[in-house]
Amino acid sequence: MTPATLPAPRTPDPMEAPTLRWGVLGPGNIARSFAEALRDGTRQVVTAVGSRSLERARGFAADYDVPTAHGSYEELVSDPDVDVVYIASPHSEHRDHALLAIEAGKPVLVEKAFTRNAAEAREVLDAAATRGLFAMEAMWSRFLPHIDVVRRSLEEGLLGDVHTVIADHGQQLYPDGPERLASPLLAGGALLDLGIYPLSFAGLVLGGFEGITATGTLTPEGVDAQISIAVTTASGAHGLLGTSMLTKTPTTAAVCGTRGRIEIDGDFYGPNTIRLRGTGIDADVVDTFEPHEGDMHRGLRYEAAEVARCVHAGALESALLPHAETLRLMEAMDEVRRQVGVRYPGE
Ligand SMILES: NC(=O)c1ccc[n+]([C@@H]2O[C@H](COP(=O)([O-])OP(=O)(O)OC[C@H]3O[C@@H](n4cnc5c(N)ncnc54)[C@H](OP(=O)(O)O)[C@@H]3O)[C@@H](O)[C@H]2O)c1
Repeated sequence: MTPATLPAPRTPDPMEAPTLRWGVLGPGNIARSFAEALRDGTRQVVTAVGSRSLERARGFAADYDVPTAHGSYEELVSDPDVDVVYIASPHSEHRDHALLAIEAGKPVLVEKAFTRNAAEAREVLDAAATRGLFAMEAMWSRFLPHIDVVRRSLEEGLLGDVHTVIADHGQQLYPDGPERLASPLLAGGALLDLGIYPLSFAGLVLGGFEGITATGTLTPEGVDAQISIAVTTASGAHGLLGTSMLTKTPTTAAVCGTRGRIEIDGDFYGPNTIRLRGTGIDADVVDTFEPHEGDMHRGLRYEAAEVARCVHAGALESALLPHAETLRLMEAMDEVRRQVGVRYPGE
């Protein structure tokens, strides 16, 4: 009989993580959410921001009380008051910007997708290892309390044998959304921005994939507008995953086992409500983690706190999102793109 309870998350309070002095590289949309999340929910401090334009850096610095604004990324990464660099540029630039910071001796938190492809990811991770520096993919969902409930439920065998994962992430962002998403040059498309969430979630639950089958529809610019993906594991488990930048989809997730299933409300990748349902459970068990009050990106504070704990401990990677897993995910996305026919310029 499945106990009718969900395990408690083990996630530490982000307020308790030791302070790091952050440098923000690329003051765009997510960098703004990140600065707000750090300011409102951690002891982390953004000490500098770097932009290709001094004016934009100054604007960001004024909005978030950041002491130093740099008009180049080179100046940012060599700022002695910066302990760690948060790379928040488009996917196409992540490799070069991460290498720039690493060569300047700075640990990095690199926005998802970590790079355009697995080869670039290896370059960054090898450089960080050679310099003895911490590096992590900013897959922020991994560090949220409700995702630790999923992790613990799996560790404790609460769901029995897990055979199926279902997750999707679609947002209406094309053709009237950010230009970045429509651009092959900036490694746009649904997969690297949105599809990465269900793929990463399936990776967390199922481990490595043995088989990947994908079908996609491309935009006239040649990036993926939507993709349906089936992943399989050596034991025969399946992940049914979808992504689209044409429409908002339910953005829910389910982990289905022989003794019960976990369902996460949309948007599953942010702090949300999680339910335990199924065989041997009298009533649904529901636990809610900061549902959508205001900005769900407040959840970014958990990944920043993880970086701070790791860097202070002298770790080179996070046990919650090891380098091998980032690489596996990049390899899976390479394979999905190969099947649907998306190549970025210069690949
Ligand atoms: N964690 C999340 O929930 C989340 C949400 C959204 C996006 N993201 C990720 O965050 C990254 C950035 O996304 P975003 O939506 O914040 O993008 P954005 O608003 O376009 O900002 C990107 C910034 O990068 C800089 N940049 C450097 N080289 C550039 C180039 N060649 N073209 C355009 N901009 C360039 C720009 O700043 P300057 O020119 O001023 O230096 C720009 O403001 C992506 O990897 C994306 O997948 C994560």
